[in-house]
Amino acid sequence: MCNERCIWVCRGDLCETIYNKPNKFLLRTTPNNGLDEINATREGLSFIRNWELWKFNRRLVTKFLTNQKFLGYALEHIQVVWEEMETYLKEYEILGNDNNGEILDFSKWVSAWSTDITLFLFTNQNVHSLAIYNSTPSQNSLLLQNIPKSILKSPDAFIENTTAYLGSWLFFAFTPKFIRMLSGFRERVKSFYDKRNSLRRDIKEIIQKRRKEIEIVNNDDEYDNSQNGLYPDLLATILTTNDNGSINKNIEYNEDNVHSKYMTDDDITGLLIDVMSGGVETTPSTICYVVYFLAHYPAVRECLLKELDHTFGRSPDYKFEIEDLNKLKYCEAVIYEVMRIYSTASSNYRMSNEPCEIGGYAFPKYTQFLLNYQVINSHHAHWINPNGFNPERFLKSSIDSRKSNQYFQAFGGGLRVCPGKALAMIQLKSFLVLLYRNWEVELVDMNAPIKSHYATTKSCQQLEVKIRKRKFV
Ligand code: HEM
Repeated sequence: MCNERCIWVCRGDLCETIYNKPNKFLLRTTPNNGLDEINATREGLSFIRNWELWKFNRRLVTKFLTNQKFLGYALEHIQVVWEEMETYLKEYEILGNDNNGEILDFSKWVSAWSTDITLFLFTNQNVHSLAIYNSTPSQNSLLLQNIPKSILKSPDAFIENTTAYLGSWLFFAFTPKFIRMLSGFRERVKSFYDKRNSLRRDIKEIIQKRRKEIEIVNNDDEYDNSQNGLYPDLLATILTTNDNGSINKNIEYNEDNVHSKYMTDDDITGLLIDVMSGGVETTPSTICYVVYFLAHYPAVRECLLKELDHTFGRSPDYKFEIEDLNKLKYCEAVIYEVMRIYSTASSNYRMSNEPCEIGGYAFPKYTQFLLNYQVINSHHAHWINPNGFNPERFLKSSIDSRKSNQYFQAFGGGLRVCPGKALAMIQLKSFLVLLYRNWEVELVDMNAPIKSHYATTKSCQQLEVKIRKRKFV
């Protein structure tokens, strides 16, 4: 990829041209030996090159992630994990009272929160990364007791390995093989492989454990799913359809009747890692960027608080539903505006599998395109005052929106649009509701820029904050 022509698409209307002709742009990249080497072109979703397999995997994942019952269940679970998070925040608040506020690296907290949610929703296993993170002596000696047992040996390592896995795409795709073999690069390659192998081992153990759990349920004639509230997670959905089990008979995903091959545990591992890693870094980083911008724009924060108070009253424990979240138009506008001005996914790729015309220029088949979201999201042709932070532009009532929104790029588009978009928006909105309705967040250093690192996505490296209970006047 690095030694071939790559066309940068820097206007939203041209991006739409690509999205609207999905049959001409089925795959992301031209053939790439780096992606082949890490198996990314043979499994999962993002870079798989077998189109029939992509369709099969994608249908399965999309059906699961967009199911309204699943999204409702996800929201319930998000609130359960928040309750746990709040117990730690309360401990920190007590500690902070002695020395004018305890400093927290919020990026680690949100990552742990999101990992707990994602692993549970997708595999029904408890990781307890929040509990373990907060129980380390360096964090808080008050919380050392009662550390629950995690399905993973080290949730921290799991998060690190997932991030490394995401970063490996860019590294292997763009670093030619002979450079990867040079000293200095060789060590990096080895480190990627070690982390990838460790991640795969973790996921395979989870698959085996979940398979055993399903067997027990299937062998128990008395077991009634609906009574026991057993919700089919993504892994159970794959396993039961794949192994012809019965835990989840009513979700049929093999509609094409073309795909008769059973998925091996390797196939399932590849797909799970791909889907989970899609959310493990993007969503928590976006939350951190929203917290950063809200600290810098107090007037916007006030408007957000007004909307929250208006929607939920001042009841700190109100359990909300998806319909409640749908009412939060200003909250949504704040999230979009942060994503516009500081995109977590700042670019995307497509390859033409047929000759095509973009912006009046003809391109042969097998041309590589880079869709530059960062530039599109601040292009003067699409936005009024693109460098200003102004969530109002995303509100329908605002006159500022006349030129914008339509070309906003955050979750991609067309056939390959992000399948986790609905889940991500639920996570983002509910986190902001849960945090800001009860807590005040202050940045430790208001002059510090955002600390992020770009490797496939722009991930937040650190966000130091002080948190205290919100005071109502
Ligand atoms: C703020 C959060 C997120 C952002 C900004 C984001 C952004 C994106 C973007 C830009 C793409 C490429 C779409 C395209 O090519 O048109 C994508 C793909 C993908 N996303 Fe997300 N995403 C987020 C959250 C999630 C979550 C929560 C999940 C899973 C639960 C997820 C899973 C995936 C997967 C599996 C793909 C590959 C789809 C394919 O190639 O068919 N994402 N995402």
